[in-house]
Amino acid sequence: MPNKIPINYKVDGGLVFIQEFLKHPLQIGSIIPSSRYLERRIVAAAGIASANVVVELGAGTGGITRAILRAMPEHAKLLSIEINPHFHTLLENIEDDRLIAHFGSAYKLKEIISLYDLGAPNVVISGIPFSTMNRSTGTQILKAISSQLTPNGRFIAYQVSNRVATLCQPFLGSGQTTTEFLNIPPMRIFQWEKKE
Ligand SMILES: C[S@@+](CC[C@H](N)C(=O)[O-])C[C@H]1O[C@@H](n2cnc3c(N)ncnc32)[C@H](O)[C@@H]1O
Repeated sequence: MPNKIPINYKVDGGLVFIQEFLKHPLQIGSIIPSSRYLERRIVAAAGIASANVVVELGAGTGGITRAILRAMPEHAKLLSIEINPHFHTLLENIEDDRLIAHFGSAYKLKEIISLYDLGAPNVVISGIPFSTMNRSTGTQILKAISSQLTPNGRFIAYQVSNRVATLCQPFLGSGQTTTEFLNIPPMRIFQWEKKE
């Protein structure tokens, strides 16, 4: 059943997010979830309304997940990959048949996509913190994103640091960058389109 969203998810999710940030600051990378302004910017930049398969890396407590689901066509699928078990439990509670909540690491992107037999994604959206992860791990993830995307597929990363742009340059080129100031902290949105 699409879009059945518990009313108190923002409050509960916000508390869990801060608790988990205090335990794993480098892995989570941000003290509070993304603002609704950032959610909207990401959904618009990704062209979700015309996507068939969307992959989300680092879904957290699911704010952007829900924004994607609101914008996504009825027939489309969203695969949301999250490494934190508490966040994963919150994602599993989102009642929407189009959502696959996967507990695991973006490092296994290729294997996870083939596990669900989804086909190539038109869009990959990532909030995982490339600035705090090991350089070779980040490079491997970005290489996998680039190879998994369909031709003309889009990759959107929201990050404070521009390290993702440096690491992604060999695979998808230069891309575009904008900033959403109505977020704590102000967040850069990096955007690439894979050439045919
Ligand atoms: C900045 S938070 C973004 C959370 C949420 N999407 C939002 O916008 O509020 C980054 C998220 O990436 C997750 N994460 C970090 N490394 C990951 C990895 N290798 N694979 C999957 N998720 C990861 C963290 O647990 C955290 O939930």
